[in-house]
Amino acid sequence: MQNREAELASEFEKLYQHSPQAICHAPGRVNLIGDHTDYNQGFVLPAAINFGTDIAASKRDDNMVVVVAADFEFQKVEFSIDDIFPSNQNCWSDYVKGTIKELLKYYDIHCGVNLLVSGNVPQGAGLSSSASLEVAILKTFSVLFGLNLEGVKAAVMAQTAENEFVGCQCGIMDQLISAMGEKEHALLIDCENLQLKKIKVPKELSLLIINSNVPRGLVDSEYNSRRKQCEQVAISLDVLSLRHLKLTDLQKNKSKLDEEQFIRARHVLSESDRVIELFDAFSEGDLSKISRLMYQSHESLKNDFEVSCEQTDFIVEVARELVGDKGGARMTGGGFGGCVVCLIPQEMIDLVKQEVEAQYYRRFSLAPDFYLCSIEGGSFIH
Ligand code: GLA
Repeated sequence: MQNREAELASEFEKLYQHSPQAICHAPGRVNLIGDHTDYNQGFVLPAAINFGTDIAASKRDDNMVVVVAADFEFQKVEFSIDDIFPSNQNCWSDYVKGTIKELLKYYDIHCGVNLLVSGNVPQGAGLSSSASLEVAILKTFSVLFGLNLEGVKAAVMAQTAENEFVGCQCGIMDQLISAMGEKEHALLIDCENLQLKKIKVPKELSLLIINSNVPRGLVDSEYNSRRKQCEQVAISLDVLSLRHLKLTDLQKNKSKLDEEQFIRARHVLSESDRVIELFDAFSEGDLSKISRLMYQSHESLKNDFEVSCEQTDFIVEVARELVGDKGGARMTGGGFGGCVVCLIPQEMIDLVKQEVEAQYYRRFSLAPDFYLCSIEGGSFIH
């Protein structure tokens, strides 16, 4: 982090001919369990990781925002804070614009800013590079203008920007964990009331993320349609959200739904229950329970919610054969490609990496990437 900060400061000086007044960071995340439950007001259990977005910034004398993205060949975008519109091309700058526009609804900001953005969250891998960018923008403005913005509020603003400005109907999980994650802990989030409860991941387990390198596009994917389907079930069964249904209620009302609606809702309800069970298994240090819950979660995302893909299924299967009940693996995030998250004993890491790499390449002629991660604190926690 220190090195990245120093490098970013020196790049900033080269670009803008003065030193930055603030350098801020927000992490990406991996979800350990609870996928597609957040927008149904259920539970999730993510962790912030040691990959993230850094922003160096200074105030300007005029109303312009000048933003340069180091990772996109130093592409520069300029706009006035009085006139913010999306490009509608799913462009990185829309996340910046949308977040600033949202912030301006709540705070009087009287001048523009110079920004240099640099991140190392793998793009399109389902590790929330976009949420980390949004949260980093909010943290930067909070520091630069002394806004004293609070983390949960920042997360809601970032989510609103993504929903309304970018057009992706994501839930609150990614922004909230990027803002409020706790070092060495997973965070149980109740997405109905945004209450947070931290829990240590058992120390016997290492966090290994395997990127299938099958790119996933959230805005263009079936994400929004899955969300609509869930909302439709809630309407049909006369509840505010799927949070207010139990698996037994769903079973009783099966005849009011078509088969697809039924299995989608079954995933959401069973997955939300598994989140609580995994939280308990972490606190009990029960490895075989952790293992069972992670594989069950994957099966449910694959068969009931149908957001998995051949490649992530294959990685989970290879990991499962090697690790058995000493740890677990599951697809993580929105799905349709992206990453598999593994919690495995440290002594198995090399074996899992070697076998997954070899077998995956043989099957798909594609090389996976591996990230052995630490769990970091959120942007608004320091
Ligand atoms: C994406 C969304 C989140 C969440 C996950 C699936 O990451 O941004 O809000 O819905 O998919 O769990």
